[in-house]
Amino acid sequence: MAINTCIFDAYGTLFDVASAARTAASEPGRDALAECWKELAEDWRLKQLQYTWLRAITNEHAPFWEVTCDGLDWALERRGLNGDPELRERLLALYWELRAYPEVPKMLATLKARGLNCAILSNGNPDMLEGAVDSAGIGTYLDAVLSVETVGIFKPSSRVYDLVGGHFGCARDEVLFVSSNGWDIAGASGYGFPTAWVNRAGDPVDRLPHRPKHILTDLTTVPDLAS
Ligand code: LAC
Repeated sequence: MAINTCIFDAYGTLFDVASAARTAASEPGRDALAECWKELAEDWRLKQLQYTWLRAITNEHAPFWEVTCDGLDWALERRGLNGDPELRERLLALYWELRAYPEVPKMLATLKARGLNCAILSNGNPDMLEGAVDSAGIGTYLDAVLSVETVGIFKPSSRVYDLVGGHFGCARDEVLFVSSNGWDIAGASGYGFPTAWVNRAGDPVDRLPHRPKHILTDLTTVPDLAS
């Protein structure tokens, strides 16, 4: 069947999650962060994701914001930066206004001009997602922002991917699911969505049961896959 709906993961796919630590590190008086912002950003992201998987497995869901704060606290302590509450507050504030990758607005505008449904499907809680969408100025291109909070479990639970058909009434094979997260792509491929993995870092494909249908280096060519 032809693709009529493009679904995007949010954090790391449309929004650059490293931009919070990068921006804070460039501000005056942040010498300690400037030395380790990349490692801090990686630890923060990895712990945030690990906590989502563990909370899904143990059935102890918490809003993504809580998991994001917990991941940051772990990462700050690991780098010896946990004694600076102002830095913590600044990094968390920046998470509400993450930079979108530069190709995002034009790519979404092209999809909309071709009449496709476009939406976010994210672990993020709705107010976080609203902040990021507003600050990136991409709300006008999105038909929906779907959050796992509706079902109370994180990706890659199939209950989350069910939200797409529930909202748009489309078949699984009419959806192009786009994510930078290999584990999310594996989950969505197993669910039955055609998938596009955005592999900006040139990482190996995850050794999981389901592989991406397409592998991209950025989002520029998404409209070619959905035509
Ligand atoms: C999201 C995380 C997984 O936006 O990046 O769902």
